Amino acid sequence: MRKGKVIAVAGKGGTGKTAIAALLIRELLGSKESEDICILAVDADADSNLPEALGISYAKSVGDIRESLLEEKQQDISLDVRSQFEGKIAEIIEEEDRYDLLVMGRPEGPGCYCPVNHIIRMIMDILTKNYDYTIIDCEAGLEHLSRRTTRDVDVMLVVLDSTQKSMKTALRLKKIADAIDVNVQRMVYVANKIPAGAEERLIEEAKKKGIEIDAIVPFDTLIPEYDLEGRPILDLPDNAPSVIAVKWVVEHITKE
Ligand SMILES: Nc1ncnc2c1ncn2[C@@H]1O[C@H](COP(=O)(O)OP(=O)(O)OP(=O)(O)O)[C@@H](O)[C@H]1O
Ligand SMILES: [Mg+2]
Repeated sequence: MRKGKVIAVAGKGGTGKTAIAALLIRELLGSKESEDICILAVDADADSNLPEALGISYAKSVGDIRESLLEEKQQDISLDVRSQFEGKIAEIIEEEDRYDLLVMGRPEGPGCYCPVNHIIRMIMDILTKNYDYTIIDCEAGLEHLSRRTTRDVDVMLVVLDSTQKSMKTALRLKKIADAIDVNVQRMVYVANKIPAGAEERLIEEAKKKGIEIDAIVPFDTLIPEYDLEGRPILDLPDNAPSVIAVKWVVEHITKE
């Protein structure tokens, strides 16, 4: 049986969610029992860039399929949306050697057409059970959290940086998770892009705001360098400071 663990990476825009999500995947794939580990990477950001961070391209997003299903349903009310959607899953899952990728694409429009969206959520829930880990790179605006596509999250990994704004978002996330129907087992706070020497101060500031930082990922010059050159974050070397820090994060969140 697969573990079916869902890890949602959330936080203010630009804090490094995508980088951290890619590094989590890198670490999980590199772990001891990784031969057998099955990972689903979900890009839940409409402005998706997880595929780039992983160094892969994709053909279709869930949004594309949703659009075509909506059209089909409008033409034929009796259409069984669920089985239609199930039949199209293979089209949207990008299979790599060692993991699969699902891109959510455009968010649901206003006044969302519920039967289709409901089925998409159900299928997401079912899909995650086929994998050991589902890593979701969440959107900055948290919309899909309130749309409940990330129900039953084992770990919500909240990324913040050394800005007050990112701390505010981190706190808001906790409130949202508490208030809406998202069953989050555990919140883990990761401070990212922290310059050497600034760690203590950051931990203190966060504490004043009610956030206990679990891990610190240093500012790693290799990340912007790779971004600039269009190289995938997944290819960072083992000795990159961010890779070493995320190794600890993975140990922390995978221990029972
Ligand atoms: N540990 C780090 N060290 C240095 N730079 C980093 C680090 N993590 C991320 N960055 C840089 O910060 C920027 C934002 O990172 P990233 O795109 O991962 O953030 P994001 O939270 O996913 O943003 P968005 O909300 O736009 O999706 C990028 O330019 C990336 O190169
Ligand atoms: Mg991102």
